[in-house]
Amino acid sequence: MIFLAAIKPKRTEGGICSELPNYQTFRGPIIWSPLCSGLLSIWTTLSNMENEFYSPGEQRAAQVNRLFAAIATRYDLINDIQSLGAHRRWKRRVASLAAVKAGDRALDLCCGTGDISFALAKCGATVTGLDFSDAMLAVADNRNSKLKIKNVKFTQGDAQKTPFAAETFDAVAVGFGLRNLASWEAGLDEMARVAKPGARLIVLDFGKPDNALWRGIYFTYLKLLVPLLGLLVCGKPSAYAYIIASLRDYPAQRGVEARMRQLRLVNVRTDNFIGGAMSINYGEKPQSDGK
Ligand SMILES: C[S@@+](CC[C@H](N)C(=O)[O-])C[C@H]1O[C@@H](n2cnc3c(N)ncnc32)[C@H](O)[C@@H]1O
Repeated sequence: MIFLAAIKPKRTEGGICSELPNYQTFRGPIIWSPLCSGLLSIWTTLSNMENEFYSPGEQRAAQVNRLFAAIATRYDLINDIQSLGAHRRWKRRVASLAAVKAGDRALDLCCGTGDISFALAKCGATVTGLDFSDAMLAVADNRNSKLKIKNVKFTQGDAQKTPFAAETFDAVAVGFGLRNLASWEAGLDEMARVAKPGARLIVLDFGKPDNALWRGIYFTYLKLLVPLLGLLVCGKPSAYAYIIASLRDYPAQRGVEARMRQLRLVNVRTDNFIGGAMSINYGEKPQSDGK
């Protein structure tokens, strides 16, 4: 209303010409130019933002830890807004692919606030959720103090080097986690190591669509709108600009699938959602690896 009032031309006496803006009295540009330049400067800032939470190499773990400490309490809310709730459906899909039953052991790497751990536990498995962020684990524990699910526990550790013996778990899942590791390959190798023969390995993460036009649209959404959401909901645009930065060096569904094959997993496949913007990689550890 304020804008409409501001751009409405002031009437002067006279015929049809009186309907036209009078350059002395039409104040639209006075309002619009700061508005447009404000939007343009937000746009330019977001699109040129160097990411304070992302650099490959030795600093990576410390930066990622700092990022999740900063957003832990708003993490679930932003997930819901950013995906319009769809992340819940993808995580249920992860749990169903894990195909666990009562008595099975399941591992949720990079468990964060525990969504996938809880979904696996509801299927009857005894679940360990592992994450290196105190802040995210505190939210997971807090949620469980309300949910009171007994067959899940959360523990701190590095997903690339877990404290578990080889061949411990019937299913190993990671949701939006592999991309955050200093070495995603080391994370996937670790998943395969702790999986029992016959166990299911499942990786859910942002993907890279094959279609160039769709990829462009989707990357623009990640580059501009998602950081804007981060700014509005938790005052941290760069924490959400991190997603597109971290995708740069991550090979996404195709690379993960190739690595699963290198690891000699069987029944390897990729499920794509929203035209490949989101994906689930699936593989099973062979009953006997033939070595
Ligand atoms: C985007 S969140 C995903 C949380 C949860 N899996 C989900 O799907 O909502 C990524 C999580 O990975 C954790 N993380 C990153 N690097 C890790 C590492 N090296 N070891 C263990 N956890 C790590 C972060 O602390 C964060 O909680």
